[in-house]
Amino acid sequence: MSEVDSKLYAPAPEVVQNAHVSGMEAYQALVAEAEADYEGYWGRLAREFVSWQQPFTQVLDSSNAPFFKWFADGKLNASYNCLDRNVEAGKGDKTAIIFEADGGEVTKVTYKELLERTCRLANALKAQGVKKGDRVVIYIAMSIDGVAAMQACARIGATHSVVFGGFSAQSLRDRIEDTGAKLIITADHQVRGGKQLPLKAIVDEALALGGCEKIEKVLVVKRSGADVAMTAGRDVWMDDALAGQDSFCEPEWVEAEHPLFLLYTSGSTGKPKGVQHSTGGYLLHAALTTKWTFDLKDNDVFWCTADIGWVTGHTYITYGPLALGATEIVFEGVPTYPDAGRFWKMIQDHKVTVFYTAPTAIRSLIKAAESNEAVHPKSYDLSSLRILGSVGEPINPAAWEWYHQHVGGGRCPIVDTFWQTETGGHMITPLPGATPLVPGSCTLPFPGIQAAVVDETGKEVPWGQGGILVVKKPWPSMIRTIWGDPERFKKSYYPEDFKGQLYLAGDGAIRDAKTGYFTITGRIDDVLNVSGHRMGTMEIESALVSCTELVAEAAVVGRPDETTGEAICAFVVLKRPRPSGDEAKAIAKQLRDHIAREIGPIAKPKDIRFGDNLPKTRSGKIMRRLLRSVAKNEAVTQDTSTLENPAILEQLGQAY
Ligand code: WTA
Repeated sequence: MSEVDSKLYAPAPEVVQNAHVSGMEAYQALVAEAEADYEGYWGRLAREFVSWQQPFTQVLDSSNAPFFKWFADGKLNASYNCLDRNVEAGKGDKTAIIFEADGGEVTKVTYKELLERTCRLANALKAQGVKKGDRVVIYIAMSIDGVAAMQACARIGATHSVVFGGFSAQSLRDRIEDTGAKLIITADHQVRGGKQLPLKAIVDEALALGGCEKIEKVLVVKRSGADVAMTAGRDVWMDDALAGQDSFCEPEWVEAEHPLFLLYTSGSTGKPKGVQHSTGGYLLHAALTTKWTFDLKDNDVFWCTADIGWVTGHTYITYGPLALGATEIVFEGVPTYPDAGRFWKMIQDHKVTVFYTAPTAIRSLIKAAESNEAVHPKSYDLSSLRILGSVGEPINPAAWEWYHQHVGGGRCPIVDTFWQTETGGHMITPLPGATPLVPGSCTLPFPGIQAAVVDETGKEVPWGQGGILVVKKPWPSMIRTIWGDPERFKKSYYPEDFKGQLYLAGDGAIRDAKTGYFTITGRIDDVLNVSGHRMGTMEIESALVSCTELVAEAAVVGRPDETTGEAICAFVVLKRPRPSGDEAKAIAKQLRDHIAREIGPIAKPKDIRFGDNLPKTRSGKIMRRLLRSVAKNEAVTQDTSTLENPAILEQLGQAY
């Protein structure tokens, strides 16, 4: 560990004093409670944090492991828990969401208003033929309507699947087809960074690609008001669908295991997997972690900057904060528009107290602040802040220190939260009033989560030794299955190597020899993390080779990048002679555009390198380790004696 790594930040006494989990003794007591009676612990919390229409009698059912069931005979409704119960508790006039549009306009909704909006939307969905168990795809930007759409699905027992607005028509099509959805909720456009970008037109394109014949209706929210094509009989303006709908909709009480949502994420094969989450266990962990990890209080103004298209937006925008009756910010725009002081200005304007963002955003804002004082956090009043959070990728100690000092004024604990789409909520994270912090470490498991570092045989390795991150016991918000592919679920997460007994996260980790603190060392599979977005290398490779007129063969690896964490580096063999100079640049652009169409702009490689062929072993396997060295412009130290054509290493040296 470097100097800076080993620095310890103990929580200030005033933070400890008022915290929900106050001091390490309180943390240890919760850990001990879970160890002594695992089901008793989760059962207690499930009764405290979730309102059940029908109480559960069994906490955990492991009879069909690894398809675990939690609180299975209990019934509840997620939207009731997030909305009605807050209104019933007297919070009807409390602000639920402060929405700030890209251009800066602010709209606020109270719990009562959000409940009414959700109910009308739920009734509109019913009127369009959506029933319990149906899937609804949501392809919309950050908005109150986006949150209400998710809540409305939950209200009637429809399973939502939100697709990030940056995905292309092809990606959207694949997801629509896989879910078998019958309705899509979208908007005419999205507005980001002062630019109007299409949404409805991309839905049209996705549906025209075929395979989505189950789609009956497309509900279109008006955002830009600009002209869009509407297909008669299929497309309905949201305003028309809402007209005349009642402002109350009886919640559909669903079983705890009822699928609340599907969310697609990248794995190590070409096809993204539909991660299926439950209602009861998921909602419990969403509410519980929001409360303990962010030490959330009733008067907080919480801001999670993630998009609802990712799991962070699900758990820490749509479900967690609302289940607790909190006030939260929903932001439509980007951190750099109109300038890179946007986040700091919004924290100042809305007196944000808890701020949760991604290392990539911090790193890019550091760069901007260093060259322009006006967008430096010190030019804003950030004194309202009390807790900071980080998510999505490892936060390097230098960025951590800057965040701590310049954003948090040296007084706000930073919770570096490790978790995944599959885990539903935080797994390894500090608790602000308990855990002494170490920059770059996500510290210790959330109370009740049994994380460990093991070797290839599943045996725990000693502290100080790197290994594979696993979770030893099931937990309430865990992935239930991969939609439509239970075998793949078992293989990916409960592999035979560990006798089907351990949850495999897909990350490597090391525990500090003295403290036992966890540091995540990165993915151990073929998944990249670019700006906190998960990308499968195989997915990008398939997109490249689908450009059949140009590409013969392609391999994709990651390399470290100062701002985005990792950068995508593609090695391409063309069907024509290897290009150079301007021709190579032009073809590289063509390939990037192709990938943007196939997956989305987030998957565009930063580097493209051309070779007459790819470095392979005699048995024909691509030498990926060698490609990783080339991508980093590192001297190749691997044995290259088996290379068919050592000259290609030189060819691959040039990135376009
Ligand atoms: C990575 C995002 C280090 C990790 C919530 C994980 C992290 C993947 C952290 C999941 C963190 C997430 N420190 N790495 N605090 N948080 N990761 O599914 O590789 O989009 O497996 O979920 O992000 O990404 P996903």
